Amino acid sequence: MAEEEVYRASTYAPVNIAVIKYWGKRDTKLNLPTNSSLSVTLSQDDLRTHTTASCSAQLSKDTLLLNGEGQDISSTRTQACLRELRSLRQQLEAKHATAPKLSQMKLKIVSENNFPTAAGLASSAAGFAALVRAVADLYQLPASPTELSRIARQGSGSACRSLFGGYAGWQMGEKDDGSDSVAYEVAPASHWPAMRAIILVASAEKKDVSSTAGMQQTVATSALFQHRANNVVPKRMNMMEKAMKERDFETFATLTMKDSNNFHACCLDTEPPIFYMNETSRAAVRMCEAINKEAGRSICAYTFDAGPNAVVYYLKDDESSVVGTFKSMLGEKTGWEGPRGQAIKALQKTPEGV
Ligand code: DP6
Repeated sequence: MAEEEVYRASTYAPVNIAVIKYWGKRDTKLNLPTNSSLSVTLSQDDLRTHTTASCSAQLSKDTLLLNGEGQDISSTRTQACLRELRSLRQQLEAKHATAPKLSQMKLKIVSENNFPTAAGLASSAAGFAALVRAVADLYQLPASPTELSRIARQGSGSACRSLFGGYAGWQMGEKDDGSDSVAYEVAPASHWPAMRAIILVASAEKKDVSSTAGMQQTVATSALFQHRANNVVPKRMNMMEKAMKERDFETFATLTMKDSNNFHACCLDTEPPIFYMNETSRAAVRMCEAINKEAGRSICAYTFDAGPNAVVYYLKDDESSVVGTFKSMLGEKTGWEGPRGQAIKALQKTPEGV
């Protein structure tokens, strides 16, 4: 019988790490940012969230399972995404009388991160991007990645960039309804395939101050942040996009490190101050500085999100100088080693001289 039928779709979304950071919302309900941002997708092939969405008339409530654990699907953010997707499905069902009424069925969403938790990566970006795409595929929505990015943004701001692989931007937009606050592709991964990343795991613990809470604290109290959003980021967006398009690693590296430091300076300028970086993070900064000095040019670039773990970008040809140095001085593997990079765990003791 048709009512017993189970409809299903599976998809994945990649992890992205910003090189021009999103920090601050002008609308907390719609996740509208105070500045545009840019990111690099760590790996399309092996660092991603895999999500299966299914629905059937037999299900009695919406459920969400992440890495085998039940999640609160009633959160405002998840509900905002599901509401938008269901409404698009309803429009489709209204147009096609024979289309099964999936919008009226409950959903079962099962998500798995295929990168080890020990890699210390925040997963909300890939998680919401995969959730939105899986449900959109299940509903057979004719929605573009841009349209889906608008929906995923409401789950978690940074998630909108994970709808695109490679080099992605998120334009802050101007409209109050957020219809123009969407992600876009700057270049596909194939444009600059030599890009690699090493993650230095200083801690795989959950962060003390969540991004959501931290950024609004910064918006409310930091004058430095106003300067960042109005004067610093707009210029950097153009320069960084150009660097990505021209595969100019030196400019990419300089801007990446400057923007990470500017963002963390804003965190420090917040009342009360927010400390995401720790002693191990600072050792990673000094090590990058030493590697670049030794090379006589910038061959690696560190960046830190709302936590102490470093993501260090480098090019394939410089692998032995960059990864070799980090591994010999700092770490051991944590379990992620793929075509586009790897994660290592920082030892408790930082080596002498850094
Ligand atoms: C430092 O996207 O996690 O990683 O929109 O509240 O879910 P919400 O915040 P989130 O913030 C990410 C902040 C960042 C920078 C970035 O990814 O651009």
